[in-house]
Amino acid sequence: MSQQKFWNSKFSRDGFLYGLKPNTFIASKIKLLAKNSQVLCIGEGEGRNAIFLAKKDFDVTAVDASDIGLLKLQDRAKEEGLKIHTLCMDLNHWKVEHKYDVIVASYLHMYKNERKELFEKIEESLNENAYFIGEFFSTKQVNYSSGGPRDEDLLYTVDDFKSSFSLCDKDIKEQITILDEGKGHQGEACVIRVVIQKL
Ligand SMILES: C[S@@+](CC[C@H](N)C(=O)[O-])C[C@H]1O[C@@H](n2cnc3c(N)ncnc32)[C@H](O)[C@@H]1O
Repeated sequence: MSQQKFWNSKFSRDGFLYGLKPNTFIASKIKLLAKNSQVLCIGEGEGRNAIFLAKKDFDVTAVDASDIGLLKLQDRAKEEGLKIHTLCMDLNHWKVEHKYDVIVASYLHMYKNERKELFEKIEESLNENAYFIGEFFSTKQVNYSSGGPRDEDLLYTVDDFKSSFSLCDKDIKEQITILDEGKGHQGEACVIRVVIQKL
C-alpha cells in the first residue's frame, strides 16, 4: 500500500489524529529560529506544527504524501487566517529546488533504505547555519504501546542521524518521554530527538 493510501485512510476519520497542539520538542526549540525564517515541515500530516509555526509569523511550507492530511491543514489555516504553502508529494520524489532556514519533522516514518537520500536532501536544503529539528520513534519503541509503527524498519537509532549530515553540528539524543498527542500518541515512549545545524 502506498504511503498516501495508508495515511489518507487514517486522516479520513473525524478530528486530528495527533491533536491540535504542536510536537512539544519542536515547539521547545522555537527560540533557535530567527524572525521571519523560512520553515519546511516534512511529513507534516494534518499540520499541527505548521499551524503553530505560521502563528509565530514564520513563512511555512508543509509537505506530505497525504492530500487528505494537507486539506485538513489548509481548512484549519483558513479558519485561523494563516497562509501556509502545501505540497502533496512522496518525499522519495523530492527534488531540491529551494533552501530553508529550518526544516522540521515529527514522527516521519521513512524506511531505512530511503533515509540516506532523504537525509542528503535535507542537508542540501538547509541554508548555512540553518536547523533540522525533529522527533522520531526509537527502535526501542517496540517495547511501548503509546503509538508508532511495529516494523523496526520504520524506527530510528541515534546512529542513523550521527552517521549522516556530514557538514553539520549534531545534538542527537534518545529519551524516554510521555506523549500526549491526540489519540495517536499517548503515554510513555522512547524517542530520538534531533537538533542538527548546517555549518
Ligand atoms: C505519524 S504521521 C505524523 C504527522 C505529523 N508530522 C505529526 O506529527 O502530526 C507520519 C506522516 O508522514 C507522512 N509520510 C510518511 N511517509 C512519507 C513519504 N514517503 N513522503 C511524504 N510523506 C510521508 C504521512 O503521510 C504522515 O502524514
